[in-house]
Amino acid sequence: MQTHEISSRFLNHFTRNGHTLVPSASLIFEDPNLLFVNAGMVQFKPYFLGQAPPPYDRATSVQKCVRTGDIDEVGKTTRHNTFFQMAGNFSFGDYFKAGAIEFAWSLITNGVTDGGYGFDPDRLWATVYDDDDEAFELWRKIAGLPEERIQRRDGKDNYWDMGVPGPGGPCSEIYYDRGPEHGRDGGPVADEDRYLEIWNLVFMQDERGELSPKAGHKPIGSLPTKNIDTGMGIERVATLLQGVDNVYETDLVRPVIGKAEEMSGRRYGSGSHVDDVRFRVIADHARSGMMLIADGVTPGNEARGYVLRRLLRRIVRSVRLLGVTEPVLGEFAAVVRDTMSPSYPELASDFPRIESIMRKEEETFLSTLASGSRIFDLAADQLKSEGHAQLPGDKAFQLHDTYGFPIDLTLEMAAEKGLTVDETGFRELMAEQRARAKADAAARKTGHGDQTVYRDLLAQGATEFLGYETLSAEATVRGLVREGARVRRAAEGEIVEVILDRTPLYAESGGQESDAGTITGPGVELEVLDVQKVARKLWVHRVRVRSGEIVEGLNVEALVDPEWRIGARQGHSGTHVVHAALREVLGPTALQSGSYNKPGYLRLDFAWSGALSSDTRSEIEEVSNLAVRKDLPVKVVYTDMGGAQELGAVALFGETYDETVRVVEIGGPWSRELCGGTHVEHSSQIGPITLIGESSVGSGSRRLEAYVGMDAMRYLAKERALVQNLATLLKVPGDEVPARVEALVDRLRGAEKELEKLRAGQLLSSAGTLADKAEDVDGTALVALQVPDGVGGNDLRSLAVEVRNRLGSRSGVVALFSTDGDKVAFVVATTATARDNGIAAGKLVPSFVSAIEGRGGGKPDMAQGGGANPGGVAEAVTALRKALTSA
Ligand code: SER
Repeated sequence: MQTHEISSRFLNHFTRNGHTLVPSASLIFEDPNLLFVNAGMVQFKPYFLGQAPPPYDRATSVQKCVRTGDIDEVGKTTRHNTFFQMAGNFSFGDYFKAGAIEFAWSLITNGVTDGGYGFDPDRLWATVYDDDDEAFELWRKIAGLPEERIQRRDGKDNYWDMGVPGPGGPCSEIYYDRGPEHGRDGGPVADEDRYLEIWNLVFMQDERGELSPKAGHKPIGSLPTKNIDTGMGIERVATLLQGVDNVYETDLVRPVIGKAEEMSGRRYGSGSHVDDVRFRVIADHARSGMMLIADGVTPGNEARGYVLRRLLRRIVRSVRLLGVTEPVLGEFAAVVRDTMSPSYPELASDFPRIESIMRKEEETFLSTLASGSRIFDLAADQLKSEGHAQLPGDKAFQLHDTYGFPIDLTLEMAAEKGLTVDETGFRELMAEQRARAKADAAARKTGHGDQTVYRDLLAQGATEFLGYETLSAEATVRGLVREGARVRRAAEGEIVEVILDRTPLYAESGGQESDAGTITGPGVELEVLDVQKVARKLWVHRVRVRSGEIVEGLNVEALVDPEWRIGARQGHSGTHVVHAALREVLGPTALQSGSYNKPGYLRLDFAWSGALSSDTRSEIEEVSNLAVRKDLPVKVVYTDMGGAQELGAVALFGETYDETVRVVEIGGPWSRELCGGTHVEHSSQIGPITLIGESSVGSGSRRLEAYVGMDAMRYLAKERALVQNLATLLKVPGDEVPARVEALVDRLRGAEKELEKLRAGQLLSSAGTLADKAEDVDGTALVALQVPDGVGGNDLRSLAVEVRNRLGSRSGVVALFSTDGDKVAFVVATTATARDNGIAAGKLVPSFVSAIEGRGGGKPDMAQGGGANPGGVAEAVTALRKALTSA
């Protein structure tokens, strides 16, 4: 049975039984705890927690899922996959254990002609949670399973939660016995390879706290209703129904391997384990990579973008290790499109964009490989010539950080050169970097991680957002939260979170900073510091109580600072304009991967390799300002996801497909983006846009920054004042300033050189005086002293030679020291007579060098070195004198 049919049979079975068919949520569904959607229940979480009323009692879906926790294991075995589809049925306070078991059992055991999967009931096993006698009995009664094929397991296997505080419950799993040739007897508890889990039924009834019931901890409470969440692995069922050994052999995965075989001329499964691993990495990652791009992820250096980048780069690496050097991602993309688009038509309709992102990433990576390889070779050769056998951790880190070199690549290349790599050092540096990034992120966020405190407030419904129409509104204080706990009141000076039933204040989202404003009531005034959304529904205002006391239930007036909002609208519309200009100038693949805007300022990260030339930057600026001058109308359209896609709106971040979405247009099709932000009505209201910088935010990702409106004007005015000041100072008209500065710099350089010559001459002329200061030490004339600061290197050496010359035919030693900050340099020179007497410059060095904490050495006539203790020069001179006495 084909995979697509396994999905459609599942959905048919459940819709026939009163379930509403809900489309898969985007892989990048907005949930602060998740990088990607990794289970069918994610989009239903608010219904389980009672945060929102479910629009249906029963639902069914086939959810695309990505799990990237053990990306490194993919391919090494046939069990791990990063992309898979989870079919599920969900009950929100409707049927419970009996219903779930009955529905699952009938679908898997009904004959193929009756719409089922036709599994042999005698090969099916079930597991239940420890003391769940009820489920145990139901399996006997409903499915007729004999007791010995129902096994009890503890929380580790049979309790399910999301790995973080939230909904959870004991679960019951269905296994299929693949037969003794696949492993030991004894059911799932004995061997999970032979007994393959196909379906997990979760009896979602608990709320888990910080500690998981999986590890035996008690749930912190019960959910408002008893629910069902099940997940059936489509790929696992396909493996069984297609009679193949593992998922890589199934109809939707094998063709990618076929393509790799065709390109490389090698065969999958022909005995080389390492090659097979590479084939599997390619097949798995091509699917997940493409599905992620389809949902709006672009390769980058952080979070989701980074995972995608790793997936794509691992494909390229694996293919190269199979001996293919030409670009490949486009080819694999076409295969994935052909196999997967019957279930995911967007892979076909959006193919040009997806493919272009993949190709671009491949190009970037290939050039990264080329330049990183050069750096690596240089470092490796140097290490070897110095007799080292290990590449230091910081070098591996530099290759990773600057050149995007995966550590496994570094390891492999090092091994080829007979070097090892200090992996521990590398990992420490990586950990430090991660800790820094985490601290940054934590410092930026006010943190609404634990959402349980908002549950009752959420139950009263969403905050009504009025900020598109008005800047002030009457509202009621629904609740106050201080340091994660509900409070009834807060007094002057305190910082507290205020939840209102309605508000005109914009909460930070979509890159737009939250509104500044105030909340006032009888005898109380609050200053709004930050506004965040909780569960996308509740507006949480973080405020400082300026005066009076705020109390729950109070009627207040919430006000947006109108000046702030004018700036915010300019900033956000300006971001859309710059994005559209960017795409007009660079082409449609220059897709925004992140943005931030606030009054007067915006920044935009986008997928692009290489710095923009100053001409390109000017062009982007020009197109942006032309769009402002054209006074394009700004229009907001509400539609559904399909409508937005038809309009060609950019970005698909975090939206569920059944939701109404908001599309902001500037100049009709010129700029269309899904966006919840606040915008100007006409582009001319944005005012001037000035690009102030373009920089790299990691390989393949650039950042543009700009000022808009009055801030752009002020920035330009400041620059103009600067030029005027310079012009006055230089006494030339403004446009002659650069030429004048250039001439001045030239003159300065000439003067410096001249000065240098003079100084050297002067120094050398002092040689006579220094020679006169020679003291007699056991018949040798010693000139040992500290010369003026800053006389370094060559000067010091020339001076020493000159002093030595002055000593003529005497037995003489010259030792000159010079200090520069916390460093000291020295030169020792000997006359020919001294050398005849057995005095060698190089041999004298050890006698005094410890006094200046230094090192050095040389030949009999001349030695030099340096040290870290300028205070020790006098001591060094004494030591030298002593050495000559005993010589
Ligand atoms: N949430 C459960 C799982 O992911 C069942 O859907 O296994």
